[in-house]
Amino acid sequence: MDPTRPESVPNPAVRRLSLYLRQLEAFARKGRRTISSKQLGQSLGLTDAQVRKDLAYFGQFGHPGIGYRVDDLIAQVRRILGTDKIWNVLLVGAGNLGRALMSYKGFDAKGFRLVAVFDSDPSKVGKKQGPFVIESLNDLREVIDRHAIRLAMIAVPADAAQDIADRLVEAGIRGLLNFAPLSLKVPEEVALNAVDLAVQMEQLSFQVNMPLGQTKET
Ligand code: NAI
Repeated sequence: MDPTRPESVPNPAVRRLSLYLRQLEAFARKGRRTISSKQLGQSLGLTDAQVRKDLAYFGQFGHPGIGYRVDDLIAQVRRILGTDKIWNVLLVGAGNLGRALMSYKGFDAKGFRLVAVFDSDPSKVGKKQGPFVIESLNDLREVIDRHAIRLAMIAVPADAAQDIADRLVEAGIRGLLNFAPLSLKVPEEVALNAVDLAVQMEQLSFQVNMPLGQTKET
């Protein structure tokens, strides 16, 4: 078994890996060479036990008396998250949200390269939006194969999203980031993540609503 693919790692632990990585990168920029689980935890409002437990799902990274070597841990976490390589990504839906995603510069820095954008609107297909020529869904499989794309973002209206997800999976996509406000059904082997700002706002209002200290993520 690949030691970086443990059978059952809780989702919150995987989410925290991204936070650890961001924090470690910030420490590296400041010239830090080593860091303890306590310092890493403190910078994120977590306990050292939580940090050690999360990282232990993936291996033994600390050094007694030293803590973690920052560069080393950054490399390990990137490898675990799969961002030590470049992922070609496609987007379906060249509307308001699609345009914002197309112009977002932050993906490249994290190893995600948006290489193709699709839309069903004939008035958009074949036209340029920023650096992208909007492609027809008829060319989905050919474009996916040509660029070896495995990840896709869905930014179409909710009533079209399931059909698009099915077509993407059928054409070889193995990871979906869904922005449409509905729960998609995908085969077990396909990874699915959803972004819903309304849900995030709800979580925020809940946390502000609740007296302090009554909730915490585990
Ligand atoms: P929009 O109407 O501006 O753009 C939708 C685009 O999808 C259009 O270009 C349309 O031609 C295209 N489209 C429609 N059916 C399609 C199909 N079957 N195949 C390919 N393309 C198709 O909408 P907007 O504002 O960009 O929102 C897009 C989606 O993202 C919606 O589902 C919306 O609810 C969701 N959204 C989610 C947010 C979040 O927080 N996750 C925030 C904003 C929007």
